[in-house]
Order: sequence, then structure tokens, then C-alpha cells
Amino acid sequence: MLGGTADFYFFNGPTALDVIDQYTELVGRPNRIPYWALGFQNCRYGYKSVYEVNDVIANYSKANIPLEVAWTDIDYMDRTRDFTFDPVNFPLSEMKKQLEYLHAHNQKMVLMTNPAIQRNSTYDPYARGLEKNVFVKNADGSVFVGQVWPGYTAFPDWFAPNTQSWWSGELKRYFDDLAIDGMWIDMNEAASFCTGSCGSGIPDDVVPQLPWEANPPPVYRPLDTGNKILVPPYTIHNPWVELSNKTIETTAVHANGVLDYHVHNLYGLMMSTATRKFLTSYRPNTRPFLLSRSTFAGSGALVNHWTGDNESSFRDLHVSIASMLDFGIFGIPMVGADICGFNRNATEELCARWIEVGAFYPFSRNHNAIGEKPQELYRWESVAEASRRALAIRYALLPYFYTNYQRAVENGWPVARPLVFQYPEIAATAGNDKQFLIGDGLLISPVLTQGATTVDAFFPKGVWYDWYTHKAVKGENKEVTLDAPLEHVNVHVRGGSILPAQVPAMTTTDSRKNDYYLVVAVDEKNRASGRLYLDDGETFDTPHRWISLEYKNGKLSISPDSGSYNVAPKLSKVVLLGVDGVKSVRVENSKQSSAKISLENGSTTVEGLSIDLNKRSTVSFK
Ligand code: NOJ
Repeated sequence: MLGGTADFYFFNGPTALDVIDQYTELVGRPNRIPYWALGFQNCRYGYKSVYEVNDVIANYSKANIPLEVAWTDIDYMDRTRDFTFDPVNFPLSEMKKQLEYLHAHNQKMVLMTNPAIQRNSTYDPYARGLEKNVFVKNADGSVFVGQVWPGYTAFPDWFAPNTQSWWSGELKRYFDDLAIDGMWIDMNEAASFCTGSCGSGIPDDVVPQLPWEANPPPVYRPLDTGNKILVPPYTIHNPWVELSNKTIETTAVHANGVLDYHVHNLYGLMMSTATRKFLTSYRPNTRPFLLSRSTFAGSGALVNHWTGDNESSFRDLHVSIASMLDFGIFGIPMVGADICGFNRNATEELCARWIEVGAFYPFSRNHNAIGEKPQELYRWESVAEASRRALAIRYALLPYFYTNYQRAVENGWPVARPLVFQYPEIAATAGNDKQFLIGDGLLISPVLTQGATTVDAFFPKGVWYDWYTHKAVKGENKEVTLDAPLEHVNVHVRGGSILPAQVPAMTTTDSRKNDYYLVVAVDEKNRASGRLYLDDGETFDTPHRWISLEYKNGKLSISPDSGSYNVAPKLSKVVLLGVDGVKSVRVENSKQSSAKISLENGSTTVEGLSIDLNKRSTVSFK
């Protein structure tokens, strides 16, 4: 924003979560995601064929690494034009088979769509758009023509009266061809590879080379520093001098003569609105899944986000934590970075360390750039092992992630949070961008430096429990050095919290069918509490159920407090972290004779329970 009239809003909190609650109340609460979106996802730019993607899907399952969603980038398109399929390498008939295969295995498919439409009168989406007058214009009324993947391209003008119906029409044709599960909308800043309307006056059949492949490189319009709309007096330190470099230019004209200068930042948000509108009308009672690169205040109500083209480096692995936490503050809690990094080659060590962080991103997807070395999680044995271990925690805790996501939907509270949200009074947490919490009960302390096999993790006051060994760590507001061999990520449960979990399977659908269990981590007063939220994870008008969980005086109370969703699997196990020496267990008034009790490292595990989560119940531990 370079000027104009600004409205300021003040959110008085007082806590960080209150501020986000108040902010998202204004701009829109985060969208409800389908449950499957919490599964692990794989993508890359540069898959050569549908058969290669088929192999990737099979290789994940051979390696025993859960894969929920197979993504394909622009590669599937015919000459990278939206709504088309490459007849040789990604024929529609084979894409259909892949989709059927995925669905038969409880997996999903997401494909990319860009806003830029090839400017070519023989390409029907363009011809129909031209007829309906839906494209961004030049000052003289001609179509503004930039350059993106398919060559010279026009850009939908979301302000124009016919754009929604045209866009929905094109999407409907496309979805009727292939009923994909989710959409990835990219390049919607909107990105362009040239400066200005570089295709104006050039015949339709000319397809320019990508500028970075052209030799000699293309020459663009000379800089017009006298034009205040192109080079405003108050700039944003754009290194390209001209504000419009690599995007729709600020002098372009939208419907009703509105200069792009005034509305530029809304492009991605408006594309998100139009795309979501189509999805909710095409499948009225199914929660859409949409991922957008460009976002604005309020985008969280419509779309989810990844942090764009990062680099396969330890620096960008580290930065990804702050980026993820930022988007939680912006009201876009379903966020993650490209796992193992996009540009440049990932090393085995980096990729192992990255999945150990990425397994806990709310949106967890491996993505790679074209031409870089393959980095699917099964490519190296140590990465595969790190993935199996870290993703087993994610899949066990899917009910916890989903419950936290529902807190985001209802109150805006981010799923991934900085320590300072929980411990504002501890000054040392303020600058901590190396660790993060999921909800308020799970602390991730990853390795972010090359060659390290230990990690210095800050533990706020209180008691924390190692996820794997159940051993307690006393938090003393200082760093503790923890062992962190390559395949291991340190994960601790905060004393005082109850985390709902489920025996993990290879897909979210299969995990949802398994027994529930609770991780009850007691604080210094031997107390803990938590919540569990459930619904069908798919539709909008599903019944739900909120369940309160409380542990004190050796008693665990399970109290469904709202909703009528029927929870089918039983609660079969309770892990009591920090509770030692339990000898007997009673569920309500009946003696639970089949319960198996085991004690280890100061904790108790009780198995063999069969508790109906739809009813109020009490479990006593003696
Ligand atoms: C840019 C996106 O940020 C990246 O994720 C994608 O792979 C490329 N466009 C190609 O579509």
C-alpha cells in the first residue's frame, strides 16, 4: 500500500490469542478444512508424466510412509494452459485412472490452476472470456497482455461483472472432465514474466520463450520514471525500481476504469473468492480445499497457504518456523513451507531435518522445483525413517490437530503457536523462533543447523514429558541440551494438558476408524485438562461433538458437552505421564478387569479399555 485512505483498527487483547480472535472476527474466521487436508502431501514441479506420479504414489506406500494427497503442478497441462491435459504425458484417461486409484486407497488429488489465460483466439477459455469482456485492460481499452507459462497471457479482471460466471463455467468444464479433490491457485499476485503489456501488438500464434531461457534476453519497455503510477514517489524499496516488474502493471485498468494501482494487492484474494464460490456451488455440502500463493487480510476465510518458493537450505528451514507462526497471526492457520525446500538440491540430512519440522506444519507438503534432485521422502533411508517416526506422531495426534484447527475456526486461535503466546511473562520466549507449540500442549524442538546431533531447547517453567520415553523434564526457564540423532525430533508434552490421539494408520480416513487414546500429562499439582472436537470432517452441515477432558485427584472425567456427532471408535488406552504406581483402574461403577497396566519412567499406561466417547464417564486410577 503506497497511499490513499487508511482505516485503522485497534484490537485490545489483552492476550495474543485475544488479539487474533478479535482480528479474525473482523476479517473472517479461518475456513473449515476437510479432515484429509491434515494428511501428508507430496508434490513437485517437473514430474514428467502421470506414470511417474503413479510410481511416486506406489513408492510412498512401499516405503511405509503415509501419503494422503498426490499433487501435480503445471506439468499435467497441455502447453501449460489452464483446464487442459497434456495428451501424451498426462492424458485425461490416465489422470482419471490415477484419481480412481487414489480414491480407492483413501487418498486425494490436487492440481494447479493459474489465473493467466493464454491470449490465443483458438484457445476456448480465452475466446469465451474475450466475448464476455472479463480481462484486465490497457488504458486504450485493449486487453492487457503479460507473459506467464503458456506465453502471452490475459488476466481475469475479478471486478468485471461477467468474470465470476465465466470462471465458474471454465472450472465446471474442467471438473466435469476430472473430479479432483482440491485446487492449488498459484501466480496470483498476479505474476507476469515481462514488464507491462508486452504481448500487445504481437500476433496470437507467437509463443515467446521464457525470459530466463531466451538468448539474448528479451528487451522490455524502457523505464518511464516520469510516470507516477509506475514509479510512485513513495516506493517500497522494490529492487526493480519499477513497481510493476514481474506483475500486472499498476497502470492497467479494471472494470469501471479502476487503475490497478489502487487494487493490486486484492488480486489473489479476489481470485480466491471466485474460485471458492465455484467449489461451494459445484459441491454444495463438501468443504473445499484451496491453496493460494497470494493472500490478503481475510484470505484465511477462503483459502490456505504455503509460503512460496523457498530454498533447500538450513536457513530457510529455520525461517519457515517464523513464517508459519506469522500466518497463524494473520488468520491463515492452515499453512506450511515446501518441505525439503523448493529451489536448489536438498541434501539427505537437510531433508531428514525438514520433515522433522514439516510433519508438524499444519499444512504438511513436500514440494520441489523443476530440475532439482528428487526429494520424495523415500529417496534416502534416513529420511524415510525420520518421516515414518515424525509422521507417526502427526497421525496419532490427528484428533488433537483437528481439535486445534476447530479452535481456529471458532476463535481464530492458530494451530502452530510461538512459545511467547503461552508464556508472555517469560521474556526469553519472545525471541524464540526455533521451537513452536501445536495448540498449547505439544512442544517441537527441532534441529535447524547442519551437522548438529543435539539441540538446545528452551523449557518454560513447569513439567514437560518426552513424547517417546515419557520421561519428565523439569522446565526452569532455560535451555536444556537434548540428544537429537538424525532420525529423531524432540517432542514434549506440556504437563497440565490432555492430548486426544488415535492409533495411527497410513491415511487419515483409516486413522479415523482406529481406537482413541488419551495422553494425560499431569502438572505439578497432578492435574491436566484438554478437549476433543469431532465431526464428519467433510461436510458443512455435519453434527459435531465437543468433549471436555479433565484429570484430577486420580480421576479422569470425560464429558461430552455439546453436539450429537456419533463417535464410533472406542477409547481403549490412557497414558498417564507423571503418574506412577497405578495398581487398579475403575471405569464408572464397573471394575475394569481386562485393563492392562504397565509402568515405565514414572508414567503409567492403561490398555484394554473400551469407553464410549458419546457418554459421560469417569475413570479412576488407584
Ligand atoms: C510458482 C510456485 O510458487 C511453485 O510452487 C510452482 O512449482 C511453480 N510456480 C510452477 O507452477
